[in-house]
Amino acid sequence: VAKQIWKGGTLLNPTPAVLVSCGNMEKPNVFTVGWTGIVCTHPPRTYVSIRPSRYSYGLIKESGEFVINLTTTALLKATDKCGVHSGRDKDKFALCSITPEESATVSAPSVAESPLSLECKVFDVIPLGSHDMFLADITAVRVDETLLDENGSLSLEKCRLTAYSHGKYYELVKPIEALGFAVKKKHKGAKKGSKNGK
Ligand SMILES: Cc1cc2nc3c(=O)[nH]c(=O)nc-3n(C[C@H](O)[C@H](O)[C@H](O)COP(=O)(O)O)c2cc1C
Repeated sequence: VAKQIWKGGTLLNPTPAVLVSCGNMEKPNVFTVGWTGIVCTHPPRTYVSIRPSRYSYGLIKESGEFVINLTTTALLKATDKCGVHSGRDKDKFALCSITPEESATVSAPSVAESPLSLECKVFDVIPLGSHDMFLADITAVRVDETLLDENGSLSLEKCRLTAYSHGKYYELVKPIEALGFAVKKKHKGAKKGSKNGK
């Protein structure tokens, strides 16, 4: 198969499209982020990369706190809107009919309509170029109880999560296999290892 070589670009796909909430309950803000991911399992650590021109940049730099809220098909319009309007001139919670909810470990609010929120405390900021990378500890996870089965296991496919890939939003609805399926011995259960293999 013939392949073209392009210059370096940000084509790692898909990425999540998350709602990052910041500020506080009195003056909350929320914006959309595609440049995010997990960087460490123990301790649980994440990052968001933010352009210094964003209103949220100053809020997060000042407080050192933010919340990553996973998005769903039901939240898609809000996700798109929060990525084009600025909290400098609009209350985006009101604009998008979403609700700020008190978080457990940070003063930044969570988005009540999100099925799963990660509360984060910044431990380092790395200037990289267009964006600064905010590295953070995940200090608490808030999860919608309707996504838990009778054993307390999380079934995120129930909430129609979204992803972002090359300018388009996608819906994640159907798991096609479980981790370890390729090495699972027939009738002998799953291969031993850490719970989620990471
Ligand atoms: C799908 C999507 C992904 C985005 N990802 C980022 C990102 O990773 N970092 C960033 O600084 N801005 C990102 N943006 C742009 C901000 O969300 C946008 O500039 C927003 O209006 C900033 O809001 P604020 O001024 O209230 O902080 C993204 C927008 C969209 C629609």
